[in-house]
Amino acid sequence: MKSEILSLLRKRQDYVSGQELCERFGVSRTAVWKAVGQLKREGYRIEAVQNRGYLLVEEQEFFGQNELESRMDTAWAGHPVSYYDEIGSTNQQAKLDAEHGAGHGALVVADMQTAGRGRRGRAWSSPPGTNVYFTLILKPQLDPDKASMLTPVMGMAVAEGIRRTCGLEARIKWPNDIVVNGKKVCGILAEMSLEQGYIHYLVIGVGINTGLQKFAGELEETACCLEGECGKKVSRAELLVNVMHAFEEVYERFMESGNLSGLRERYDRLLVNKGREVRVLDPRGEYRGVAQGVNDLGELLVEKADGSVAAVYAGEVSVRGIYGYV
Ligand code: BTN
Repeated sequence: MKSEILSLLRKRQDYVSGQELCERFGVSRTAVWKAVGQLKREGYRIEAVQNRGYLLVEEQEFFGQNELESRMDTAWAGHPVSYYDEIGSTNQQAKLDAEHGAGHGALVVADMQTAGRGRRGRAWSSPPGTNVYFTLILKPQLDPDKASMLTPVMGMAVAEGIRRTCGLEARIKWPNDIVVNGKKVCGILAEMSLEQGYIHYLVIGVGINTGLQKFAGELEETACCLEGECGKKVSRAELLVNVMHAFEEVYERFMESGNLSGLRERYDRLLVNKGREVRVLDPRGEYRGVAQGVNDLGELLVEKADGSVAAVYAGEVSVRGIYGYV
């Protein structure tokens, strides 16, 4: 009930009488008073005025179970949400949850990770109180060969979520790094479990550098954070909900065809590499070309100097800009 009270107070942005809360949730005045008391102890500023009711004064950022539940007004993505103050890795937890029956759309979120994982076996730095780390569980009826396309689908949702939350022009560096002003702001790590040739589940983990922070070493040149780029405070809860909303829309579009045909133009508009010269780090030999966009399978089309076009599959190669990361 705490999340529902929070959600109602936030929507109303005015006093809500105790009577209305009692009637809506079918509980006593004491139960409402107790729930409000708990919210206050969690740090929410809720003013209680006789004959008027309760008013939520939002003056600081909250990120936790009640906050996320009360804001998650999506149809299915982000339901239910399981929030942890500290966890090894949200991907790891999501896999456990999926094994134990968590359904399509369940979301694992953490304030910090002690064993955050990136692609290619790298670690993902996950300090507390500043970034967004989450993993969405999916159980799609989809040919396993097509599952890798759900990573760019999430990439599009993150780019859209960032734009809606703080107005920044987030773009995609193929296949699925999200960049703002040429620097990486978000990474995505998808993992799949198969059962007898079917997708048992898929987890898509996302880390978004949100709060103001300094990057050391080579990251200074290649990484950035949202607050640093937009110059204002960004609500992590709002950002996460916006990403979930965008994901629902893009995912449903993707599932109509089971490929990127309906999303290709949109993906290409977000593609920061498009029209740029790139180095393709293929284990069989590096080559250069101009990135043209993606095909229906999400492969990057690269036109080489001899005019031939290679379709680059994300699993086997990396793509770099000629002068650096993008
Ligand atoms: C990358 O290397 O670009 C992918 C980074 C993915 C990091 C996220 S943070 C939430 C989720 N949990 C993890 O352990 N990793 C992903």
